[in-house]
Amino acid sequence: QEAHAAQMEQTFIAIKPDGVQRGLISEIVSRFERKGFKLVAIKVVVPSKEFAEKHYHDLKERPFFNGLCDFLSSGPVIAMVWEGEGVIKYGRKLIGATDPQKSEPGTIRGDLAVVVGRNIIHGSDGPETAKDEINLWFKPEDLVSYSSNAEKWIY
Ligand code: TYD
Repeated sequence: QEAHAAQMEQTFIAIKPDGVQRGLISEIVSRFERKGFKLVAIKVVVPSKEFAEKHYHDLKERPFFNGLCDFLSSGPVIAMVWEGEGVIKYGRKLIGATDPQKSEPGTIRGDLAVVVGRNIIHGSDGPETAKDEINLWFKPEDLVSYSSNAEKWIY
């Protein structure tokens, strides 16, 4: 019956090249994990410039678009799908405001970043973008469905 359960909310989270280069992968994964969200897909990928432009297509009229896409495609990105009740909105809360100077202490950007152009993490901003971004970065079979309380080999 698990397979027929209603799809739990999912969001797309990416650690940008600066977060990877600075050794913040485990720190960031840990914050989502400790909150109680479930990691259902993860991969390391160096996006092409063209792919970065697709990911940020909503921002193509903005003056920072080109630099932003150069930056996203400048090195390895950790692409992830996190699952859980309220994960889209609360994921954004864990991440903090876009500009790290305005992010509260205790948030990922507030604690770990300084400037808007190097704000270490991306998170989908709503249900529609979450769906689109998950589909852009992952194939459906990359997402693993599992029940956290069924792992009887973990004591
Ligand atoms: P945006 O989608 O507005 O923010 P968020 O990542 O919080 O959803 O912008 C995407 C990225 O573009 C943002 O993470 C950093 C970059 N950016 C700039 O470099 N300069 C800016 O003035 C803004 C608004 C964003």
